[in-house]
Amino acid sequence: MSARRTDGSAGDADYGTIGAGYTDYRRPDDRIARVIADALGDARTVINVGAGAGSYESVAPSVTPVEPSASMRAQRPAHLPPAVEAMAEDLPFPDDGFDAAMTTFSVHQWSDLKAGLREMRRVARGPVVILTCDPDRVRDFWLYEYAPLVLDTEARRYPSVGEITEVLGGEASVRRVPIPADCTDGFNEAYYARPERLLDPGARQACSAWSFVEPALGEQYVERLRTDLESGAWDERHGALRRQPYLDGSLVLIRAIPA
Ligand SMILES: C[S@@+](CC[C@H](N)C(=O)[O-])C[C@H]1O[C@@H](n2cnc3c(N)ncnc32)[C@H](O)[C@@H]1O
Repeated sequence: MSARRTDGSAGDADYGTIGAGYTDYRRPDDRIARVIADALGDARTVINVGAGAGSYESVAPSVTPVEPSASMRAQRPAHLPPAVEAMAEDLPFPDDGFDAAMTTFSVHQWSDLKAGLREMRRVARGPVVILTCDPDRVRDFWLYEYAPLVLDTEARRYPSVGEITEVLGGEASVRRVPIPADCTDGFNEAYYARPERLLDPGARQACSAWSFVEPALGEQYVERLRTDLESGAWDERHGALRRQPYLDGSLVLIRAIPA
């Protein structure tokens, strides 16, 4: 298991360094929230693992958030419950203590994926619901032309859908989650129709994969994008995306119920 950072970050990204400003760019998107709510069904008590600042927690009547990073816990709005400081791999809750378990944009960061998934399965009586990205589709996004190492990093970090469903066992379903053109949750693909947004350093910082690329290389990537936006080359190749209401990208929702 990887060592925890100064702020308690327990995954591969250091939110003590990149966490500030996360909520300015990563606001839960209502349309994605509805997909999660649908998957949770009538669950009343839900544990949210890797809860961060609380995105998507409004989908359940009673949520217990778990979050190892102090800088992420500090960004939780006052109307949400404070998060328990713990890690996915070792949840301090009894077996079957919750109706359901959820996690969003987090499994790719855990140091021991299997242990974390088994813990989610152990503490939930009902569905385990995971919003994540399918690594097989990450490089299909146009950003790969500009920032190949960023998306290679993403593709390497995200566990395969098959591995997740195998560890969770039971009966699993996987659905692609359409990404709206005006998605309020600023992960990389959320900007598929608004490429200019990725010129903003804050937007990139809120997507942890950028933090694994040398800053000078990251700058080169951004300059390439800026140049193509200014010359119209980006629009020539991808401009139709500006009018496309949804992207069928790498975002997926996995739902597993016990056998
Ligand atoms: C990209 S953020 C997502 C936060 C939130 N779920 C959201 O959708 O905005 C990833 C979160 O996973 C947390 N995390 C990383 N490793 C973890 C672990 N081993 N156990 C629990 N949470 C972890 C990070 O601290 C961070 O808050």
